[in-house]
Amino acid sequence: MAENEIYRASTYAPVNIAVIKYWGKRDSKLNLPSNASLSVTLSQDDLRTHTTASCSKEVPEDSLTLNNASQDISGARTQACLRELRALRQEMEDKDPSLPKLAAMKLKIVSENNFPTAAGLASSAAGFAALVRAIANLYQLSVSPTDLSRIARQGSGSACRSVLGGYVAWQKGEKPDGSDSVAYEVSPASHWPDMRAIILVASAEKKDVSSTAGMQQTVASSALFQHRADEVVPKRMKAMEKAIHNRDFESFAVLTMKDSNNFHACCLDTQPPIFYMNDTSKAAIRMCEAINSTQPDEKPICAYTFDAGPNAVVYYLAEHEDLVAGTFKAIVGDKTGWEGNRGQNIKVRSETLEGTQA
Ligand code: DP6
Repeated sequence: MAENEIYRASTYAPVNIAVIKYWGKRDSKLNLPSNASLSVTLSQDDLRTHTTASCSKEVPEDSLTLNNASQDISGARTQACLRELRALRQEMEDKDPSLPKLAAMKLKIVSENNFPTAAGLASSAAGFAALVRAIANLYQLSVSPTDLSRIARQGSGSACRSVLGGYVAWQKGEKPDGSDSVAYEVSPASHWPDMRAIILVASAEKKDVSSTAGMQQTVASSALFQHRADEVVPKRMKAMEKAIHNRDFESFAVLTMKDSNNFHACCLDTQPPIFYMNDTSKAAIRMCEAINSTQPDEKPICAYTFDAGPNAVVYYLAEHEDLVAGTFKAIVGDKTGWEGNRGQNIKVRSETLEGTQA
């Protein structure tokens, strides 16, 4: 090995938007969820984190920059990811002493988001998925997507779902050590390729209450939440997987909207109450309801969902592009308060992250 050799690997990870929401932890140290969740991975051509991990003997300390700003990586969750990835590399080096000693070197991690960070657009999901994947690539680990999802989950829960493409579930898991709290593919994107999502950026500001803090307050104070975690979500997970397998948009849409509303009801039931949606968000809900009410038997052709922020994500099928995306774009075009990407059209991601490694 040359004395000053620099080792480097890059990857992209896309944003995922949950249709059955993760909210609440049963173990905050291991980052284990109170309920299962399910998401759609968006196209990485649109919303994504790009991350490069490098190491060399010259790198003085572990560091992470996001959009050129230095980030604190001393937190337990980031450290858990780094520790686990290094341990896997160390195992490889112990087995094969001819390998360069990367596990002992410090890491320089450089990330860029092409969307507003921490504005409820799942930035931590893409961020940790890209970080874990980039380091796994750098270390040339032969780990499965399931293993990567388990590591990424420790950084940020929703990140475990961004390690896979298409329609992805995160199973709650039963084991106390969290080893079975991992993501799995429900269906590849190709199973339902005409699914589309439009993102309406109501505010690109950083959110008031982070997901981590918000869900802890909800778990501590909301009775509605316990009902959601124990009764509501398990049934919805089954129904949502069935809707996806059957490409049943009506069921997909009803479940998506109900679950978003149930999650935000739990936020409102939190002490002190948490308001992630604003008036613009509510206008987007009314618009979806109005579009759906024009359909025969009021069968939904679009479905809204909101994460821990005011931005709406609206799912619809390609055949309804003109009516759904067209209506939103027409309104968005005139309205102050809709900012940022202005209803940028996002196609569902069509390939898995594995195909995207550098
Ligand atoms: C509302 O994954 O950001 O977007 O595990 O504390 O990092 P931590 O939380 P995070 O929470 C995401 C919550 C959500 C719903 C979802 O993506 O399922």
